[in-house]
Amino acid sequence: MRALVKDGNGEGLTMRDVPVPEIGPEDVLIRVRRTGICGTDLHIWNWDDWARRTVPTPLVVGHEFAGEIAALGAAVPGLSVGQRVSGEGHVIGRSSRAARGGRFHFDPETRGVGVNIPGAFAEYLRLPAFNVVPLPDEIDLELGAILDPLGNAVHAALSFDLVGEDVLITGAGPIGIMAAAVARHVGARHVVLTDVNPARLALAGRLVRQLTTVDVGRQRLDQVARALGMREGFDVGLEMSGAGAAFDQMLDQLLMGSKLAMLGIPAGAVPVDWARVVFKGLTIKGIYGREMFETWHKMLAMLQSGLEVRGVITHRLPAARFAEGFAAMRSGEAVKVVLDWT
Ligand SMILES: NC(=O)c1ccc[n+]([C@@H]2O[C@H](COP(=O)([O-])OP(=O)(O)OC[C@H]3O[C@@H](n4cnc5c(N)ncnc54)[C@H](O)[C@@H]3O)[C@@H](O)[C@H]2O)c1
Repeated sequence: MRALVKDGNGEGLTMRDVPVPEIGPEDVLIRVRRTGICGTDLHIWNWDDWARRTVPTPLVVGHEFAGEIAALGAAVPGLSVGQRVSGEGHVIGRSSRAARGGRFHFDPETRGVGVNIPGAFAEYLRLPAFNVVPLPDEIDLELGAILDPLGNAVHAALSFDLVGEDVLITGAGPIGIMAAAVARHVGARHVVLTDVNPARLALAGRLVRQLTTVDVGRQRLDQVARALGMREGFDVGLEMSGAGAAFDQMLDQLLMGSKLAMLGIPAGAVPVDWARVVFKGLTIKGIYGREMFETWHKMLAMLQSGLEVRGVITHRLPAARFAEGFAAMRSGEAVKVVLDWT
């Protein structure tokens, strides 16, 4: 089968033939149809320090996918060949305290599809049946391919009650934009999204109704908030940029007693003015991945009831043109790139 492989000798990925994965009794073989390129894939492409330390080579990469079940292991109940599916890319162990306690997304033995074990940028993917998520009829394979990052956005956005609240989201990448759409969908009052990239803010403004976008390179966030009639600050913050400057601004703009979900991953250690966290009495929650499988349930249900996120897909390319997709990601021109493996 064709697959995008990291060989571990510098920048880039190679499209080449590799064997179709063999499945065990509790696995499913998925014929991959669409995949999304994630920031993590870019780190692997660039072969930065994190990627060199983390990714065993050679490895088929990629973890955002949708397709159809091609084969089932002998001990897999409740799924059928031909069924349209996506799936959770965090493959968990069975023995940790968290896993035994049913808090699957906190399992320290988690291995990432396309990061630690063979991935989805290929014609076929092996996945434990436990991780498979069937797609409802309303959700096509293209949307199926971006459920992983949408799940990040949903996990963060639903961490705190947003109904009637004023929400500040820093970082208008695909996850920040989708989180804004979720905040709007569930009934926040003001949703304000910041970035330093005007093109991304413009796309977000087209995708999410009644969204206030702020280019923090040119506009004063406090003035925008005041113009919206917010006298004291935001009730809930979602940090989705990984930028230290955005976190600082978040601390400035949050109300006393407010809540902050941290999803963005800084490149290194970031200095924090903890006195402001203490005196404001903030509740801060780290967000990693998706809750298995509550996040999946909620996001599918919201998509079935009108949540609109497809607009984050700016590039659709046949898999053979993967290099163009990665170039668009690297230049910052793309928000979400989807590759077609049919
Ligand atoms: N916690 C998790 O499980 C998880 C999963 C996936 C991605 N992530 C991280 O979440 C973040 C968002 O992911 P993405 O794919 O949307 O990323 P992205 O890199 O495409 O988007 C980040 C955005 O932040 C913007 N930004 C930079 N400086 C800023 C500032 N000072 N103020 C406001 N915005 C600023 C950038 O211009 C960019 O548009 C990244 O840091 C990513 O590594 C975390």
